Formats: sequence, C-alpha cells, structure tokens
Amino acid sequence: MDLATNPLREGLAVERLPAPCVVVIFGAAGDLTKRKLIPALYNLALARMVPAGFSVVGVARNAKSDEAFRAEQREAAARFSRTKPLDEVVWNDFAAGLSYVTGTFEDPATFATLRARLDELDATRGTRGNRVFYLSTPPSTFGTIVEQLAKHGLVADARDDAHFTRVVCEKPHGTDLASSRALDLSLHAALAEHQIYRIDHYLGKEAVQNLLAFRFANSIFEPLWSRQHIDHVQVTFAEDIGVEGRGRFYESAGALRDIVQNHLIQLVTLFAMEPPVDFSANAVRDEKVKVLRALRPMRPEEFAARAVRAQYRAGAVAGASVPGYREEPDVNPESRTETFVAMRLDIDNWRWGAVPFYIRAGKRLARKVTDISVHFKPVPHRLFPNLPAEGNVLALRVQPDEGISLRFNSKVPGVGNDLRHVAMDFRYGTTFGGAGPEAYERLLLDVMLGDATLFTRADEVDASWRFFSPLLEAWNASDERPAEYAAGSWGPTPSDALLARDNRRWRTL
Ligand code: BG6
Repeated sequence: MDLATNPLREGLAVERLPAPCVVVIFGAAGDLTKRKLIPALYNLALARMVPAGFSVVGVARNAKSDEAFRAEQREAAARFSRTKPLDEVVWNDFAAGLSYVTGTFEDPATFATLRARLDELDATRGTRGNRVFYLSTPPSTFGTIVEQLAKHGLVADARDDAHFTRVVCEKPHGTDLASSRALDLSLHAALAEHQIYRIDHYLGKEAVQNLLAFRFANSIFEPLWSRQHIDHVQVTFAEDIGVEGRGRFYESAGALRDIVQNHLIQLVTLFAMEPPVDFSANAVRDEKVKVLRALRPMRPEEFAARAVRAQYRAGAVAGASVPGYREEPDVNPESRTETFVAMRLDIDNWRWGAVPFYIRAGKRLARKVTDISVHFKPVPHRLFPNLPAEGNVLALRVQPDEGISLRFNSKVPGVGNDLRHVAMDFRYGTTFGGAGPEAYERLLLDVMLGDATLFTRADEVDASWRFFSPLLEAWNASDERPAEYAAGSWGPTPSDALLARDNRRWRTL
C-alpha cells in the first residue's frame, strides 16, 4: 500500500501536509546540512509535517556508506536540533529514509546513480516522482547541476501537475548584476521560474513574517505607515561574531553582499511594500519588487555622502579581546573588504517620499540584534516645555527577544509636569511561550508544499543588484581604505555622521 494513502494516518494529517516527495541535498558534507537542513527536516518529522515515505538523499564527493551518513547526521541532529534530546522513534523512522550518493557534480555517473536511487525510492517508499533538489553548493556549480539533472530526466515538465521538481538555491544569488543574470540564465535553461526557490532564511523567521500580520491584520498601524506620520526608519543588523573561520568566503563577499543586498533589503521591502491583493506568492512579490524599483539610484558623486563601508580592528567583545578583520585566518592583511555598511536609502513613491531609511549591518558590533525602528514625527506644537526631543518610536525586534515595543511620553507621577519615555511591550516568548520553528523548517515545508511566497523571485534579485552593483563597483575600484571601528563598538564615526548630517542619530540598542 502506498504509505500516503494509508487510512491509519487519517486524523494525523496536519493542515499543511505536503505530497510524498524526496529532498535531495547537493553539498551534503557541508555545514549547512548538519547545522540547519537535517535538524529542520527532523523537526518537521517530529511535528508530523512530512509526508509518509518522506526520503532524503545527500550527495557529495566523499565516498561514504548510507550507514556512515546516517550516523554522522544523527550526531549533528542531536547537537543542533532545536528540540532535544532526539526522539529515538522519530529519528529511526526519519533515518530509514536517509541515504547517500557519492560523486562530483561534473561527473554524469553521479546523476545516473542518483536517478536510479530516486526511481528506487519512488517504488519502495511511494515518493511518486516528486523531487526537491536543494543546492547547498557554491553558485558556480548551480548551472552544471541543473543541466545534469535535466539530461538525466530528473526535471519534470514545468506544466506537469502530477509530479513536481523544485530547485532550492542557497544565497548568494550572484555576486553582482552581471553574474546574477548569468546564473539566472543557466537556471532557466532547464527550469521555469515557478520551479526555482531562491532562499533567504530571514524570510523564514517568525518575527519577519509577523511584519505582514502586524501591518495587514491590524487597522490601527497602517494609517500611520507613511510620510504623513513617519519621520524616518532605521534598520540595524548587528552581529557580535566575526567571520568565524569563513575568511576566504567573506573576503569575496563582504557585508554588502553577505547581508545588505539580501537579508537586510528583504526586511526593508516587507516593511515598505503596499498591501498585496492577497497572500499568493506572486501578489506579495509583485509588491516587494515595486519597492526595490522605487529605490532612488545613487549617483557616483553621492556614494560618499550616502554610503559608509568599514572594517573592524582589534577590540573587545563581551569582555574578551578579539583580533581585527585583517588578522583573521584566510584574510588578506591588506584587505579592503567591508565588514560594516551603513547607508541612507530613499524610496521614491507616494508613501515614502521624503522618509529616509537608514540601514546598517556589521560583524563584531557590540551585540547581536536585528531591529527595525519607526521614528514618528514630533508633535506639531510643544505644549510641554520639557517634552523629550525625540518623538514616538515603534521598534520591531526581529531577534533576539523577538517582539514589538511602542515608545511614548508619559507624565511622571507627582505634582510637577515632568515627562518621560515609557514603552508598551509585546514579547513573543512571554506571550506565546517558547521559541517557534527555525526559519529553515518553515521554508523547507513551504518548498514541499509549493508555496513560494517567502522566496525571492528573479526580478527582485535583479532589481536589488541593479541598485547595489554600481556602489560595489565603485568600492572595488577605489584605492581608499574603508573606515575602521573597534570590535565591540557600534561602528565607525562616519556611520554616525551619516545621520548627523540629517540632524538624526542611531537609536541606542
Ligand atoms: C548568513 C550570513 O546568511 O546569515 C552570515 O552569511 C550571517 O554571515 C548569518 O552570520 C546571520 O544569520 P542569523 O540567522 O544567525 O541572524
């Protein structure tokens, strides 16, 4: 009997249960597989959100048996799963569908073996020819892998409703406009756009999705969401960690490519977009891409005034001394790669005309925090002489301590007329208890369900690169050294100057 039609499963099915399928992970020897993908799939299994017969095939170059792969992944899942300890029964059931194919991506034999394995799984586990290919490999390999999949009959016709092929691409989606377009061409040679899932794990975070609920499930905030009431918006993406042994990767990426062009700009588009007509994937992405298209392009003579790049030097983070970026392993001692970026963005449309968005992202800052703050305009007439200069602030905390806080002025109890900022706070942890699923759980489930709402469409990636590429080129061509900031600080002086120029300052976090 096909496991998926087993009547004993009736009543167990959750609202969002995918059709039977196999997930194939290319780059299965990598860190992402161990730390995120397998733990996420295991947690989906634990929550009974994977279909019956669900199977996972890892593909990588190191020769390994299925048993060795299972043992290795078990150890990693025990260590990295958000739920602990591992549930033996669930893990054993999950591991029964876990296998490994050895081979390189250039070798057609790898794909012939994979094809045979997938046919076998269709027959033995009822996976029905439905396949998710997860490319957890460098983008330079994407074209080859997809071409080989197509050659080996592993890509279902895009119009085939009975079977699906979905390809998940890990970031970076190119390194500039030209490379991202070339990458897209190679993907589209074998796949239709709706078969491609460009992942940005920030979109899988609860607090990021809650941005949509906050804006479009409440009637009191949306009327305030525009230039009529908002003075400016700040987005901070701070990490206290350095490059964590990823010096080689980071040298070619830098903060702009690693964070700003994807994670951070995604937060801006969700924050700033118009209400979609519905929550279908294309309706949401249509609105997001409009924000990207409305970003005012920067002219080269404006780069210095609107964008700051910097590098951390040695300093102290949480009381411990840490080396500077150029002293990190695999980093060129003369490197000009930026570990910090601050910028002023302007969104030229009716809603946001004259509302600057100040964004900053960096490694080795004072602490890990991702936060969007909305700074409202001051009152039009000061009735209270001692009214604090700064107006109301609505802070949307993406992580850690996910929550929303509204700052307003209140009279201090007493016979005087003193005023002080107070806050109304909502915290996810306190209200809902415990952490929600990991971003990868939500996103992998969405891929299996065929819901691309939280994935980036080709035109979004293109619009984002169109905006950032000229700045990157100018930075690459410039002999000027990036500014410096001490590890453990909140960034370099020019970042403060960026706001001071507009008579504003970064919110203290
Ligand atoms: C990754 C970046 O995409 O996101 C890393 O490559 C960064 O440099 C990470 O540290 C941050 O993700 P999170 O979920 O830990 O905030």
